[in-house]
Amino acid sequence: MENFTYFNPTKIYFGRGQIASLGTALPAEARVLLLAGGGSIRHNGVYDQVRHALGRRHVLEFFGVEANPDYDTLMKAVDLVRREQLDWILPVGGGSVLDGAKFVAAAARYEGDPWEILTSFGSKLKTALPIGAVLTLPGTGSEANAAAVVSRRTHQEKLAFINPLVFPQFSVLDPETTFTLPERQIANGVADAFTHVLEQYLTFPTRAAVQDRFAEAVLKVLIEEGPVTVRDAKNYDARANVVWAATWALNGAIGTGVPQDWSSHMIGHELTALHGLDHARTLAVVMPSLLREQRNQKAAKLLQYGERVWGLREGDDDARIDLAIGATRTFYESLGLATRLSHYQLPATIAGTVAGKLRARGATRIGERSDITPEVVERILLAAA
Ligand code: NZQ
Ligand code: ZN
Repeated sequence: MENFTYFNPTKIYFGRGQIASLGTALPAEARVLLLAGGGSIRHNGVYDQVRHALGRRHVLEFFGVEANPDYDTLMKAVDLVRREQLDWILPVGGGSVLDGAKFVAAAARYEGDPWEILTSFGSKLKTALPIGAVLTLPGTGSEANAAAVVSRRTHQEKLAFINPLVFPQFSVLDPETTFTLPERQIANGVADAFTHVLEQYLTFPTRAAVQDRFAEAVLKVLIEEGPVTVRDAKNYDARANVVWAATWALNGAIGTGVPQDWSSHMIGHELTALHGLDHARTLAVVMPSLLREQRNQKAAKLLQYGERVWGLREGDDDARIDLAIGATRTFYESLGLATRLSHYQLPATIAGTVAGKLRARGATRIGERSDITPEVVERILLAAA
């Protein structure tokens, strides 16, 4: 196991009716920006619960944060925070709204061009406003991590930043608030969380037994409960298990002391930036193809994954690796996510474009062994055509 420092300060309020906890979680004198997306929270009662819990606090609202939150939209929220001297950010929505809140919390106090927050991957951040979140879409893990991803459509860019200053101080996870999710979005959430585990687990063994067994447990919960919750939206227990699994998939715990990959995410973000494809759908395309390309480098972990997660014990190593990769592709497809670029009407030429974008930003050696070059990225995407 490698050395690590583990820190996760986010307090979680989990379960039915927990939005009421906002009443005590937020200081009475807080000057709050309620940040939201396109309006789903107005139709499912979440907005009313939030406003009720906030009581007489000073609250201003900013609606309109898009899926894949846009830099220019978020900068309007930053202006509002500065102008009105707000001092708490309260995102109510999915990963995009939570990520948007992290950017707003960081940019509001940033001296200099806020775009640098993203181009420096968060390294230049010295302070940020406190965040408390209400999550309505499980999947990204944004509710209990220090990462955010922001798109800038005018530049066709999608960049992430990470800094402990933007951990939410608390997050409310009430599975019932997610019952109104369309099938496509909950399927995306399950697939995203599943991929987060794979990116931290399918690398090479470092005898990190707690992390491995924990990662396998989260995968198995998503495999068991994911399809149930996609088909039966109001099954509280299935949904609750998926919500909690998604938090643990990316709250830092399973990634401690182990090598990590993240190249599927890096490649996927380029596909979203160029074509607007849903984040999880990019992953469903890239991950199976990447595993095939990296099958030798990842062989030991693929065999462990095949056996412990999918129960594959028959056949030689090559055959079991094939089956493990096949099971992964089938899992995405069973959730309703297509795993080929052609299903999304994306041409094979996109392979060269994505490779070129990664090269231009200096991401020329990615993956846990730094052996995924732009040429390899191109091969991965051509094989996913
Ligand atoms: O905008 P509203 O009207 O709220 O509708 C949203 C949106 O259209 C809707 N929705 C959310 N909760 C709902 C609901 N509809 C009905 N009922 C509800 N309860 O769902 C749509 C998609 O929402 P979005 O927030 O975009 O989805 P998701 O949570 O999948 O977030 C995706 C973003 O997170 C980033 C992605 O790159 C992408 O930009 N990620 C963030 C990560 C992180 N912070 O650690 C890691 C991830 O790998 C990911 O990259
Ligand atoms: Zn993701």
